[in-house]
Parts: sequence; C-alpha cells; structure tokens
Amino acid sequence: MAVFINTFRHNNLKTVPALLLLLTLGMGACQPTEDIDPTTNDGVAELMKTPAHFPALPDVSYNRQTIEGVRLGRKLFFETSLSGNNQISCVTCHLQEKAFTDGVALTTKGQSGALLFRNTPGLTNLAWATNGLFWDGGATNLESLSIGPITHLDEMAQNILELPAELAAKENYVQLFDAAFPDEKATGITTPKVLKALAQYMRTLNSGNAKYDQFIQKTAQLTEAEQRGMAVFDAKCATCHQRSQHLFTDNVFHNNGLDSEFTDISHERAAQGRFRITFKNEDLGKYKTPTLRNLSFTAPYMHDGRFKTLEEVLNHYASGIKASPSLDTSLRDFTLSSQEKSDLLSFLKTLDDESFTKNKNFKSR
Ligand code: HEC
Ligand code: HEC
Repeated sequence: MAVFINTFRHNNLKTVPALLLLLTLGMGACQPTEDIDPTTNDGVAELMKTPAHFPALPDVSYNRQTIEGVRLGRKLFFETSLSGNNQISCVTCHLQEKAFTDGVALTTKGQSGALLFRNTPGLTNLAWATNGLFWDGGATNLESLSIGPITHLDEMAQNILELPAELAAKENYVQLFDAAFPDEKATGITTPKVLKALAQYMRTLNSGNAKYDQFIQKTAQLTEAEQRGMAVFDAKCATCHQRSQHLFTDNVFHNNGLDSEFTDISHERAAQGRFRITFKNEDLGKYKTPTLRNLSFTAPYMHDGRFKTLEEVLNHYASGIKASPSLDTSLRDFTLSSQEKSDLLSFLKTLDDESFTKNKNFKSR
C-alpha cells in the first residue's frame, strides 16, 4: 500500500489495477435509499435531473447516484481537508464560474507550487465520458480518477491512509457518509467512499441549457450567422466534436495537428499524448476530443493551454495544422475561410450556458 501511494503519479496507467482493487474493497452490496427527505431542499434533487435531449445516463450500477451521495460529494469537492496542507480543494483548480477550469494555461496552484504540465479541463457532462478521462485517457472512470489529484504531490498531496480519520474529526462527516452509504455503515469513512461520492457529484455537472439547446428544443431561434456557423461546423468539426448527442465530443483521441514532433519525453511524457498510455506510435500527439461547451469561460485552450483566444484556435484550424504520421485524416488539406471562421465563432458562442456557470445548486448550502 505504501509503495502504491509513493509511486502514484496523477494519471499513470500502471496504478489502475491497484485502484480498481482499492475501489472494489468498498463496493459491497449497496442498496441506497431512493427516498428524498422532504424536509431538505438544498438543490441536490434538482442537480440530478439531466437535460431532456441528452442521451440516457450510462450505467453506473457500481456506484448508483443517490441524493445523499451527491450531497456528500458536493461537500467533498469544496473540502480543503482532502489536501495534505488542508489548503487545497478540487475547486482551487476547477472553478464553477469558469465552467470548472482555472483560467491559466498550466497551473501552479498545487501544494508543491510546481507547474503541472496539462491545462485544467472543464468538468462538463462527464457522466457520458465513458472512454477514459484526462487528456490522454489515463483514468478509466470518475471513481478512480480522484485518487490522482488527491495524492499527487504537485496537486493535493494527501496521505490517503490518514484522510478518513481527518474527515471523521470534522463536523457532520460521519453522518453524511452513513447517509450516503447506508448499507456500509460498519466500515465508517473510507477512501473508496470519498471517491464514489465525488464521482456521484461530478456526474451532476451537466450543461445542457445554452442557446444551442434551446434551439434544439425549439424554444429559441439561431441568427443567420449562427446557422451558417452550424453548417460549417457540421461539415468540418462535427466528426470529432460530435453534435448527434449534443455532447460535442466523440470521446475518442485524435491528433489535431498542434505539433509535428513528439520527441519530448520530459514531464512524464505529457507532450506525447495518448502514446504515454498505450506506447503505440499511432497514438503520438493524440488527445481526448474536448467538449466545446462554455468556451467563453474556459480559455486558454488545448491540452497545454497554448491558445489564449478562440480566434487563435480557429487560425490554427484555418492555416496552422502541422503534418505528422498520426495527424487525423480529416484534418489533412484542411482550411477555413475568414467568413467560415466568423460564422463558426457565432455558432460556438451559442454553446455558452450561464445556467451552468451560475447554478447555485453546485455549491453546498
Ligand atoms: C492543482 C490543480 C488541480 C486540483 C487541485 C484538482 N485538479 Fe482536476 N485536473 C487538473 C489538471 C491539470 C487536469 C488535467 C490532467 C491531465 O489530463 O493529465 C485535471 C483533470 C481532471 C479531470 C478530468 C476531466 C476530463 O475531461 O477528463 C477530472 C474529472 C478532475 N480533474 C477532477 C478533480 C477532482 C475531483 C479534484 C479534487 C479531488 C481535482 N480534480 C483537483 C488540475 C487539478
Ligand atoms: C480530427 C478531430 C477534430 C476535428 C475535425 C476538429 N477538432 Fe477541435 N479538437 C480536437 C482535439 C483532439 C482537441 C484537443 C487537442 C489538444 O488539446 O491537444 C480539439 C480542441 C479544440 C478546441 C479547444 C477546446 C478546449 O477546451 O481546449 C476547440 C475550440 C476546437 N477544437 C474547435 C474545433 C473546431 C471549430 C473545429 C472545426 C473547424 C474542430 N475543432 C475540428 C479534435 C478535432
């Protein structure tokens, strides 16, 4: 166990079997209550509704979402006791008003103050991200993912063997864990339960009420520029940023031509993309297609935050795509005219959803 904790690195695939073991230990026959306490109206039930035009929620029977579980996860997401020095929470880097990003290219907000080598992604519609998490897919599910930031020395640097006792010493947590995992009261507060509650909460961070969504639900009209932008988008962007399920991602890894060489092996191979997980040449420079929702709040862009504005992003697609053997075939000989760029910008703005960035229910009352 000690070896596992000391060697754990963020999204290192080698730890996944250990993580699964760790999680399995906490996964007894769990039959959480479906009752909603009528006396509590703290917005959790509201959070658990998913947008009507979205696909059905993927099966998470191993960690079924309950009001009590989400409530606990919501508190933990803001809990600085999850970090070694008790000063850092998930929110330190995932700010709601920035659609759960942090506004910088690479952050130094972790406990060590060292630079992280990937841009903090937004946490949006992750319930449907069933093909791996992190930019390179280094985490398999939302449950195992959180152990990365919690234990990484450059993030929250927590000793997870000490975490349960730290939480137990704080007000309310024993009751909240009992309520969230009623069939496992005997084991008290455990790290797997922390991970499961955080995952239940993260599956409520759903954005589906932008102007685009109102258009899909026929309650709003798009302007002519927005409609032209949508047509360009469908022709040139939607193969990866898929629109069919309104998630704007295909959950697949692609090389979108940011670089032509992937020889830098420093920083845990952060610049090699999915290759660092699979060690297949075809995965050099491939990253998970990010959603394009809420882009007005999530700058800077790309896995290393290299583009400060959407104009820079569109200039990349218009004339900056770099060739390499793993470059996606759909992006070879790719161009955008200035009219297409300006129409695309109009369309992308229809994906901004302030009911997401300002939803009070994401915070504990
Ligand atoms: C010090 C900053 C920092 C803190 C604190 C932090 N994160 Fe992150 N988070 C990041 C960065 C950077 C990435 C991207 C890492 C990568 O892809 O390699 C990330 C990625 C993620 C992702 C993946 C999203 C996706 O689309 O694949 C999730 C989920 C996540 N973090 C949840 C959390 C949770 C839960 C906590 C608290 C337990 C947390 N983070 C704490 C910086 C942070
Ligand atoms: C071949 C698949 C593919 C196509 C086609 C594609 N993208 Fe992307 N897009 C990606 C991937 C993969 C990334 C992440 C790359 C990275 O960070 O290294 C990305 C990143 C982005 C980002 C940054 C998002 C963020 O949160 O950092 C924007 C904006 C974007 N694409 C818009 C577009 C637009 C507009 C088009 C059409 C002109 C388009 N993309 C076409 C795969 C694609």
